[in-house]
Amino acid sequence: MKITAKAPANIAFIKYWGKKDETLRLPMNSSISMNLSGVYTTTEVEFSDNLESDQVRLDGKLAEGKERERVVKFLELVRKLAKINTRAEVSSKNNFPKGTGIASSASGFAALALASTSAAGLSLSEKELSILSRKGSGSACRSIPDGFVEWKAGDTNYTSYAHSLYQSDYWDIVDVIAIVGRKSKKVSSTEGHAKAYSSPFYKTRISGMKKKVRDIKAALSDKNFTKFGEIVESEALNMHAVMMTSEPSLIYWYPETLSLIHEVKDWRRDGLEVYFTIDAGPNLHLICLGKEVYKLKNKLKKLEVDEIIVSRACDGARILYKK
Ligand code: DP6
Repeated sequence: MKITAKAPANIAFIKYWGKKDETLRLPMNSSISMNLSGVYTTTEVEFSDNLESDQVRLDGKLAEGKERERVVKFLELVRKLAKINTRAEVSSKNNFPKGTGIASSASGFAALALASTSAAGLSLSEKELSILSRKGSGSACRSIPDGFVEWKAGDTNYTSYAHSLYQSDYWDIVDVIAIVGRKSKKVSSTEGHAKAYSSPFYKTRISGMKKKVRDIKAALSDKNFTKFGEIVESEALNMHAVMMTSEPSLIYWYPETLSLIHEVKDWRRDGLEVYFTIDAGPNLHLICLGKEVYKLKNKLKKLEVDEIIVSRACDGARILYKK
């Protein structure tokens, strides 16, 4: 059977940076995120006896090398679970540019996990799917549950998974991605995670994570947007301080990234309550409440921003079609 699944990207308010187990992708700390309605991957999978090898198409092109290997390795996990040997035809499409810090691996592996397990005849629970997609890409486990999500770090394969804290209609938070650079990044997040330990600040970062997770959960529960935004912004800067001081240093920002950071601070001083967060790339995610989106979009239109993508919180991975 051919299965098509769709999964959103997600933005981490509290980030995952650094692993305690590389193969299982067990993170050093728990993280908190929101699924993004405007950025997603749609993936089709069909297992067939007629295939000699896995056929992987990403955004219309046959995947090769490392990119293909990562998908094939994931399909091996699915075959083992389903006790089958057949090869698969996979076709995956993103509605956003790859490798720019908009978490294509998160939506990609979440959609692949759901489509491939279902095409292999399995019916996994949300927790099982989250655990499985984590092994494709850590952040993918957060794109399985709905809305606002927590990935519990855990210590073992079975205790490290994501669950929903609140459904998507809980709070009208908007994420506006400002694309300032489209070049693929030179250092992938997988390589970056492994360098986190080389920063002299990493230990300090990790020692503060439990409290940060508690604090942001309290801000979410109280719907205290100021508190929420302050934590989000300082968390992003904390992670980038680790990246910048790793050996070799990882500098994901472009000049346009920094200039937009300054704009955001100015706008806030002028009364527009918006905060920024940045993943492993140059683009910014601007976080505001729904009532401020119009104003924010107008401000962005006056700047040198290539494109903006507006997202609200949304459901996690879903099956679209079965044929
Ligand atoms: C900066 O999930 O892409 O976006 O597990 O190696 O695939 P792998 O890493 P990935 O790392 C995401 C890092 C981040 C922060 C986050 O999303 O929490």
